[in-house]
Amino acid sequence: MKERLVGAALLVATAGSALFIAAYFTGGARLYEGLALALTAAALCAAAIGWALWLLPHEQVADEIVTYPSAPAQRATQTGEVRSDVRAIARPRALVGLLYVALAAFAAALALPIRSLGPAPRDTLFHTRWRKGARVARPNGNPVRVDDLEVDSAITVFPAGALEDSQSQAMLLRVPEELAPSTRGYMIYSKLCTHAGCPVALYRAAAKELMCPCHQSVFNVLDDGAVVSGPADHSLPRLPIEIAPDGTLVATSDFPEPVGPSFWERR
Ligand code: FES
Repeated sequence: MKERLVGAALLVATAGSALFIAAYFTGGARLYEGLALALTAAALCAAAIGWALWLLPHEQVADEIVTYPSAPAQRATQTGEVRSDVRAIARPRALVGLLYVALAAFAAALALPIRSLGPAPRDTLFHTRWRKGARVARPNGNPVRVDDLEVDSAITVFPAGALEDSQSQAMLLRVPEELAPSTRGYMIYSKLCTHAGCPVALYRAAAKELMCPCHQSVFNVLDDGAVVSGPADHSLPRLPIEIAPDGTLVATSDFPEPVGPSFWERR
């Protein structure tokens, strides 16, 4: 009878895990998922308590301390006793099977929500959507042409086709042409501050510096985005660009290094 009670608790635990999995795959109603998990945990606890109280041997053994090593005969006796105790614990084979099934179902139920964490980041921490030939576009999608910006002005740009991609947001600047003759004065820097990821959206044209408003990191746009001051500890990544034959600005590759804060050590 006691074995049956423990077995029933294990069956309930397995059923609870199955209910959780079913609730998860049929819409993920949190109330039902929570109730199913609570049922599983309670049934497993009940089974463990019942097993400990009713099924395990309860004899108390006092062993006298002897000088080691023990005599071979004594070791053989003790080994036999341990084996017999282990057999006593594992004797109800059906229960042991049920226990394995219940624990496996519970583990599956606990592991399943990992699927809800969303798509794996893959290499998005290291690359943006900028590619060779990607058109430089304004936030509204219009491509930027070579005559669009006044000297000493700046706008936010994205790669065409990835206007929502925050990792790819960048600042397009135009400095006097003699300072960047190969691109008629245009240059693009990542807009993600290398300190803590705030948008580096302030361009100080007179000093040719980009400034982050969060903690006032300042980057020199004429020195490959080198840090001038502030808490940022590495340069703002610069995007290589060129002017296409049709007069639009295009990237010649992705940023040469990961953009954003240095949450992994790059030095
Ligand atoms: S996030 Fe830019 S300076 Fe801190």
